[in-house]
Amino acid sequence: MAERRGLADPVYAPAEDSGLLAEAAAARARGTVLEVGTGSGWVAERVADVDGVERVVGSDVNPHACRRARDRGVEAVCANLLDPFRGAAFDAVLFNPPYLPTDPDAEWDDWQEAALSGGASGRDLIEPFLDDAGRVLAPSGVALLLVSSLAGFGEVIEYALDGGFRAETVREESFPYETLSVLALTMDN
Ligand SMILES: C[S@@+](CC[C@H](N)C(=O)[O-])C[C@H]1O[C@@H](n2cnc3c(N)ncnc32)[C@H](O)[C@@H]1O
Repeated sequence: MAERRGLADPVYAPAEDSGLLAEAAAARARGTVLEVGTGSGWVAERVADVDGVERVVGSDVNPHACRRARDRGVEAVCANLLDPFRGAAFDAVLFNPPYLPTDPDAEWDDWQEAALSGGASGRDLIEPFLDDAGRVLAPSGVALLLVSSLAGFGEVIEYALDGGFRAETVREESFPYETLSVLALTMDN
């Protein structure tokens, strides 16, 4: 699959979505920050330089990504979503998820596909992330979630609101095939 697409590198290369998330994080992230799905660590490295940010941890399910992020100087943990992190540990949690809607019968056979595919709806990783994000956020913490219109912007907002978040769009940019937004999600407490 990777060779067919000319994507032999097993780690996601930073793109427009990464840039939008980094901009939102520069404006909103403070204190102790987790970047879920850190990939190359490009976003996490930038966030570490933001005023008021004390510590940045990256995590990724892909061991090649964890190594790449560490090579950049990012403290990286190999993990599924938020599984290993204790409650109320982070002032900000960032996620640029895999979000492309994908045919369920398509082969799932490489790390690039893991970086890109969000399952049939595009939300296979977004929904479990939202289910658990409130647990790891400190009081007054914020989750910054990159959302593509391809994964259903309205559906993601509705899921987040149903989960008890308040949602604000803090960045948005349109491209020929999708609109990318960054949602700032805070708990309704
Ligand atoms: C779209 S890429 C974003 C990479 C990087 N944050 C950026 O913006 O350039 C999505 C990342 O999520 C990671 N990922 C996929 N499933 C994951 C999971 N279950 N838990 C943690 N990370 C995951 C992928 O390996 C990939 O690095």
